[in-house]
Amino acid sequence: MTTDPKLAQKQAAAKAALAHIDSGIILGVGTGSTVNCLIELLPQVRIKGAVASSQVTEDQLRKLGIEIFDLNQVGSLDLYIDGADEIDAHGNMIKGGGGALTREKIVAAASDEFICMVDDSKIVDRLGGFPVAIEVLPQARSYVARELVKLGGEPVYREGFVTDYGNVILDTYDLIIEDAAAFEARLNNIVGVVCNGIFAAQSADLMLKAGADGVQTVKFR
Ligand code: 5RP
Repeated sequence: MTTDPKLAQKQAAAKAALAHIDSGIILGVGTGSTVNCLIELLPQVRIKGAVASSQVTEDQLRKLGIEIFDLNQVGSLDLYIDGADEIDAHGNMIKGGGGALTREKIVAAASDEFICMVDDSKIVDRLGGFPVAIEVLPQARSYVARELVKLGGEPVYREGFVTDYGNVILDTYDLIIEDAAAFEARLNNIVGVVCNGIFAAQSADLMLKAGADGVQTVKFR
């Protein structure tokens, strides 16, 4: 039992997520501290294996004896479960605080359903309070940063961090995101951008929101 209320909420959301996992499936598993709570519980459900959204997640799953599948081997997945840095009333999210956004978005895109586990501090009216992580080819870093400034953003190079794909991250503050899907596409159009942390095309289908009063299930579609 933890005495940290935030951790307790993450654990509660993760516990609620277990009920959505059918035995025998290959589960898409996200990355981050909320997902860590889920990973600890996964031995309780008899999944066939997992597709991991980061090397960190993959290592944790392997330690528990859970078989790891390559996404190319399995094709599509029934279910992907992950956390978020922000989520709005439509299930659009900002993700990438842990830097795993590209692999997360790929696994999410290949999954029929995305369940997002959050504590209620992650709920926002409009995305953008949390900086948007933008994964960039190393050579394009300075060019992309200038383009982001033109869009009104303040990009900050995440020093000392290299993604699973060998790229760098620009955490971009102050972006005004009126239309999440349009803004996500606009960022992707900058040459040198590999992926950005707005998940509107891959928004959540269902949210498990943990608060002081327990876990609420919110269906977006
Ligand atoms: C990692 C992510 C995480 O899902 C996001 O940062 C939330 O993390 P946490 O559960 O630790 O709050 O997108 O790239």
